[in-house]
Amino acid sequence: MQFTDLKSQYAALKASIDARIQRVLDHGQYIMGPEVAEMEAALARLTGAKHCIAVASGTEALLIALMALGLKPGDEVITTPFTFAATAEMIVLAGAKPVFVDIEPDSCNLDASLIEAAITPRTRAIMPVSLYGQVADMVEINAIAARHGLAVIEDAAQSFGARYQGGASCNLSTVGCTSFFPSKPLGCYGDGGAMFTNDDALAQACREIRVHGQSGRYHHTRVGVGGRMDTLQCAVILGKLERFGWEIERRRAIGDRYNRLITDQLIARGLPVQLLAVRPDRDCVWAQYTVMVDDRARVMDTLKAAGIPTAVHYPKPLHHQPAYAAGLDPAAHPHSVRAAQRVLSLPMSADLSDADQDRVVTVLAEALARVAA
Ligand SMILES: Cc1ncc(COP(=O)(O)O)c(C=O)c1O
Repeated sequence: MQFTDLKSQYAALKASIDARIQRVLDHGQYIMGPEVAEMEAALARLTGAKHCIAVASGTEALLIALMALGLKPGDEVITTPFTFAATAEMIVLAGAKPVFVDIEPDSCNLDASLIEAAITPRTRAIMPVSLYGQVADMVEINAIAARHGLAVIEDAAQSFGARYQGGASCNLSTVGCTSFFPSKPLGCYGDGGAMFTNDDALAQACREIRVHGQSGRYHHTRVGVGGRMDTLQCAVILGKLERFGWEIERRRAIGDRYNRLITDQLIARGLPVQLLAVRPDRDCVWAQYTVMVDDRARVMDTLKAAGIPTAVHYPKPLHHQPAYAAGLDPAAHPHSVRAAQRVLSLPMSADLSDADQDRVVTVLAEALARVAA
């Protein structure tokens, strides 16, 4: 069994992806070829955002967003410590300081009720992460940001395709940044990412920063980066869009089925496993299907012995990572600390069969029974 089944996906989309790639090989415009603008237009339509800017990765999207917002040394950005390192890493690289705020223990997303206490005169932005494919409390976060004159950058690396109160992830705040890392809900065959905004000036700044701050050929109006997305990778995304709607529906259905099976077969028997809470006004596209268990290493060993791959997203909160820990209290953000000890991601792909999913749940039950004994 694969943790993320990209082979079945390619088999289903081979004709479309191969034709798209061949077209790029034929026209030869590998940098900023026509597929870049075509993909940007398609993704802007999908999210409802006025602007989509394709960039080299999700990491680059975050950096470009922060640069475009004009962050300066000493500025602060409020974010979650329970995320992939890139979130805080780009804040530091942009010259600012990440200020961590704890998560909600049941959804693992930034706890909006804790944000206001962390705001100082130096705060410039809030960067919630739509972890595992579920958007955080964006209405509350946007309201706090509006009260304090802050920007909101959604780190939507894991949530492209997710819905929130009738809107689309990536188009819920000042700017949304996603990743097309191959295993993401929408992935290419290498690195790629995109930014979304409805602000014309911000979009223009992002477009310029993406190509070394150029507003015209060899006219550098600002400091930028080499942040373009390859034409070939945009062609792969265009090929994958052919069944993306179906894949997102499948991901939701597989997540619901996992929840149902685990509730009925494991939790009903008293086995110690906690599901991730998904709020009723939004959905989850399950970039990872993640549950919480105690004695995780033993549970993982049992699953591994049965040939079932698992992963941990993420084993340490960022205030415990050497690169970000200086001056921070390791006992702070207790929900993030506890989640990092307990989260366990199970196999998830649009092509995961019911039979494989049944087997994952059966072996998980055996593993939990062993731990509880
Ligand atoms: C929450 C989060 N932010 C940022 C990134 C960075 O994206 P990329 O790998 O495309 O640079 C990732 C990807 O793993 C992520 O999960």
